Amino acid sequence: MKKILVLGAGGQIGTELVPHLQKNYGYDNVIAADLRPEIVAKLGQNSRAVVMNALEMEAYAKFVKSEGIDTIYNLVALLSATGEKNPQLAWNINMGALLNSLNIAQEYKCSIFTPSSIGAFGENTPHYKTPQDTVMRPNTIYGVCKVTGEMLSDYYHSRFGVDSRSVRFPGIISNGALPGGGTTDYAVEVFYEVAKRGKYTCEVPQDTYMDMLYMPDALEAMTQLMEADPSKLVHRNSFNVTSMSFTPEQLFTEIKKRVPSFTWDYEIDPVKAQISASWPDCLDDTCAREEWGWNPKWGMDAVIDDMLAACRKKVENGEY
Ligand code: SER
Repeated sequence: MKKILVLGAGGQIGTELVPHLQKNYGYDNVIAADLRPEIVAKLGQNSRAVVMNALEMEAYAKFVKSEGIDTIYNLVALLSATGEKNPQLAWNINMGALLNSLNIAQEYKCSIFTPSSIGAFGENTPHYKTPQDTVMRPNTIYGVCKVTGEMLSDYYHSRFGVDSRSVRFPGIISNGALPGGGTTDYAVEVFYEVAKRGKYTCEVPQDTYMDMLYMPDALEAMTQLMEADPSKLVHRNSFNVTSMSFTPEQLFTEIKKRVPSFTWDYEIDPVKAQISASWPDCLDDTCAREEWGWNPKWGMDAVIDDMLAACRKKVENGEY
């Protein structure tokens, strides 16, 4: 049985990954770690939870050793839009957490998952059916960290035999914790705003295509890849994964078909406009499908229906 540590467990992915892992591997075998004591107190209501700073190597390593951790999900990251506000901090946090995690994984023989992102691609990447192996010259600090992280994780695998694995997540749509500071966040926020106010102001240009994934598929991607037969993995860090691609205008038009009173407008954030224009329109995820059986279940229509219902309930319960 695995003994799993989830770092950055209080974020959008972590809050849903922890219960998903508990279901698969047992409550006692999953430990949620986050930097923020108030978040850890909340996580602690439904899981084992500890306050931990992934940048404090000594305490991190001691904990992994004492708990007999054999699998690390390193979700610590500042996202793309926030990263541009403080690039130095983004580099220090994103790379510091990864480097410590890789060194600890090497020392204590842990498997390690670290998400990469569509942010790893850049303007001169082919935007349509972006291949698994292609030009990667991002122009955000977030993307620079992701490309470096992919290479570093592969290096630790080939040089030291660390079992490192990763996917390039597109925007993740979910109704657990809100995302924070990403360029794809609009595709989550809009559902809450529809439920609460019936209108939304979008900061991403109306005709920008970006890949998206619904959280249940994102969770499945992580556990499925970490369970995959290593002999089948030609790639490791990191796999393209996607299940849909749309523009803000297309998403809002589909929502309006279900909520006729919904209205929206645009106040473009130049940073988000530049970032989103440099990212792929749609990924080719053939390698993930072939090497470890990636097969997402959620398409755009089902996601919209599910998100509208979930966010309506959250607003009714006063949770948003
Ligand atoms: N959701 C992330 C962002 O927008 C992309 O990985 O920054």
